[in-house]
Amino acid sequence: MKEILQSPLNYTGGKFKLLPQILPHFPKEIDTFVDLFCGGGNVGCNITCRRVIFNDIDTRVIQLLQLFKENDRQVIVDSIATTINEYGLSWAYKNGYNYYNCDSNNGLGDFNKAPFNKLRESFNRNKTFDFQYFIQFYVLILFAFNNQIRFNAKGEFNLPVGKRDFNVTMQRKLNRFIERLHQINCTFANQDFRNFDIKNLTLQDFVYCDPPYLVTCATYNEQGMWTLCAEQDLLHKLDNLNNRGIRFALSNVLSSKGKTNCILKKWIETNPDYTCIHLDYNYSNASYQTKDRISGSDEILVINY
Ligand SMILES: C[S@@+](CC[C@H](N)C(=O)[O-])C[C@H]1O[C@@H](n2cnc3c(N)ncnc32)[C@H](O)[C@@H]1O
Repeated sequence: MKEILQSPLNYTGGKFKLLPQILPHFPKEIDTFVDLFCGGGNVGCNITCRRVIFNDIDTRVIQLLQLFKENDRQVIVDSIATTINEYGLSWAYKNGYNYYNCDSNNGLGDFNKAPFNKLRESFNRNKTFDFQYFIQFYVLILFAFNNQIRFNAKGEFNLPVGKRDFNVTMQRKLNRFIERLHQINCTFANQDFRNFDIKNLTLQDFVYCDPPYLVTCATYNEQGMWTLCAEQDLLHKLDNLNNRGIRFALSNVLSSKGKTNCILKKWIETNPDYTCIHLDYNYSNASYQTKDRISGSDEILVINY
């Protein structure tokens, strides 16, 4: 079993925390693992199998993951450092917070705001989707609010500056993730899940789905891409896989803050082939307990094997 790594891309609904509960339910023998809604790739990068296909509808994220896979780790890290220096962003782990007239509670936002906005402007003007574009994209993520990714309808990155910088934890996550991508046999696809071709999948393969959730909100779904219709299409695709004997697992939230995903609930109840496993987001982390009991999120994994 490989050591569980965390993606250097911070995703709302990212599965890193839940992996210790999810992975034991996955099949032991997998030929091709399809991470159909891969986001930051937290799941695909932690699977033992012959090959992984990372798929997501977000072109920039897929191209960034591809850049991590295809380029030398040191070249990537050096290019990130060059961009940070070029724009005069902070290095608090080297210089300390005082140097930037900031403290660790309030973070580095006051200092980084102007250089961050300059980088964001330059990135949004840049229409050459080359190596440098994706390095700038990653530096924006590093310095953005909560390390999130958000684009407006015009395709402009529109998050404000955050509190942190390329600190030792982020450096470590990135380095180890790039190393992992270099070690595993993986390819990338940039398809709407409906168009992802499942024709050639066999009984040895496994499809993992972690779509946006109907009952919660995330930055990648602010433009309302995930609808009832998308949910139904996905459940239909999973039924098709099941009819062909192909194993799948679906992550989702059955209910949250008083809202229930009725379509999903009915689908599970009416399919005797499917098992619904309730996960505990608070497991092994007591500080989350109160928060989750109040929000009442019912995180589940549905499997067909
Ligand atoms: C919950 S996130 C996945 C998080 C990921 N499992 C992780 O741990 O980092 C859902 C992902 O679905 C992607 N997505 C949304 N609509 C999609 C579609 N129609 N087809 C494929 N991917 C889609 C989003 O871009 C987002 O990356």
